[in-house]
Amino acid sequence: MRKSEFGVIGLGVMGKNLSLNIAEKGFKVSVYNRNEGDEANFVTNFLNENSSFKNILGYHSIEKFVASLEKPRKILMMVKAGSVVDYVINQLTDFLDSEDIIIDGGNSYFLDTKKRYDALQKKNIQFIGCGISGGEEGARKGPSMMPGGNNSSYKLVAPVLETIAAKDANNKPCCTFVGKDGAGHFVKMIHNGIEYAEMQLLAEMYAMMSISMTNESISAIFSSWNKSDLSSYLLEITSKILIKKEAGNYIIDTILDKAGNKGTGSWSSKLALDIGIPATIMTSAVFARYLSAFKEKRKKLSVLISREKATFEIPRTKILEKAYRFARIINHQQGFEIISVCSSEQNWDINLSELSRIWTNGCIIRSNLMNDVSEIFKNNPELIDDTSIFETLKISENAVSKLLKSGIDNRISLDAFYAAYNYWVSMTTKRLPANLIQAQRDFFGAHTYQKIDENPSQYFHTNW
Ligand code: 6PG
Repeated sequence: MRKSEFGVIGLGVMGKNLSLNIAEKGFKVSVYNRNEGDEANFVTNFLNENSSFKNILGYHSIEKFVASLEKPRKILMMVKAGSVVDYVINQLTDFLDSEDIIIDGGNSYFLDTKKRYDALQKKNIQFIGCGISGGEEGARKGPSMMPGGNNSSYKLVAPVLETIAAKDANNKPCCTFVGKDGAGHFVKMIHNGIEYAEMQLLAEMYAMMSISMTNESISAIFSSWNKSDLSSYLLEITSKILIKKEAGNYIIDTILDKAGNKGTGSWSSKLALDIGIPATIMTSAVFARYLSAFKEKRKKLSVLISREKATFEIPRTKILEKAYRFARIINHQQGFEIISVCSSEQNWDINLSELSRIWTNGCIIRSNLMNDVSEIFKNNPELIDDTSIFETLKISENAVSKLLKSGIDNRISLDAFYAAYNYWVSMTTKRLPANLIQAQRDFFGAHTYQKIDENPSQYFHTNW
């Protein structure tokens, strides 16, 4: 019997849909899932539900699963990030041969991927850490894929990955070799940081608009923005979410206001802190989720605040639109800056234009702006260097300050918009009060300081 061209381990939502996507494109695919506990029957159920696919073979034994694959074997693991990844790799390696390829398609931490890559290289097994974005629908119809590892093993899996990936406006696959070892998982992590910030900006805009608008009208505005340069997948789904009803009620009004997270946003923020990049919007988005989790405390304290809401008018829609455009650009500026700096530090040589190109479709942060970003990075090292981006920011600053003033008047927390505004103001201010910080540091700790008109390599200390 002809062996399978590809294997998938893990039949959770993503694993199932990716397997179907691969099979639908005509590849013969073997699938494996552990047959225990709440995952017993995963394989059997999957095969039964998809019996029309004759090119999917299911296995309960990892050994038989491996034996069903053509060499070099290409195995995509879709399991929970963390220790499960190591567990499955250990199980697998007993049965693998030299040059077989394992792909980790989960949201693994990139430094873990780097360690696994190095460890498997020693055993002559190739390892690809592949960020995959697009959720359930993306997995089934075409995700954005961010593989990292080494280019020669990527070339062997590219025929499958590039076939199942989403396609950009020029019909090129939204899948490209990102860089060595952990680069693929690293960019997926930052993708998620950008995603957190994009979501928070929409949430804050919704909070602002809700003061005086119905769900229907907010949805209509979002939907009209979605026909403009502001168009994005997240804006599109948000306009749909706002008007979805169940038993006559808007679902959105029935959802508890406690945001969850699986960690990639805080990983991105922590990394930004470690490498000295002010990724202020994604960080405020992470904190906003954490703040929301204190529901009981918020409820208790809110009773002590008697101020009425909706006392003050909110800015006109045109102002809101400009402020939203502004904050999104700053978010992308910050996110790509982390990538650029980390890429140099790790010698990944990530091509920012190509990376943003594979984010123009399939992934959660796909947008019109991402198309522009991809073009801008062809000629500029940073988004903010592009004259038209800079002009847009310049002419929108006023709109953001109006939004923020109204946020204060109406007692609406707009942390992500503040972060965007303050980043812009600081970045375009020649003299910041950091001279005082330096003086204080020198006063209490003799940390020394540089002087404005002196050689920057010279440090001074004052006996204060
Ligand atoms: C994607 C998403 C996805 C992520 C979820 C949940 O690109 O498809 O980024 O990978 O895991 O959005 O993330 P949180 O639970 O942390 O919000």
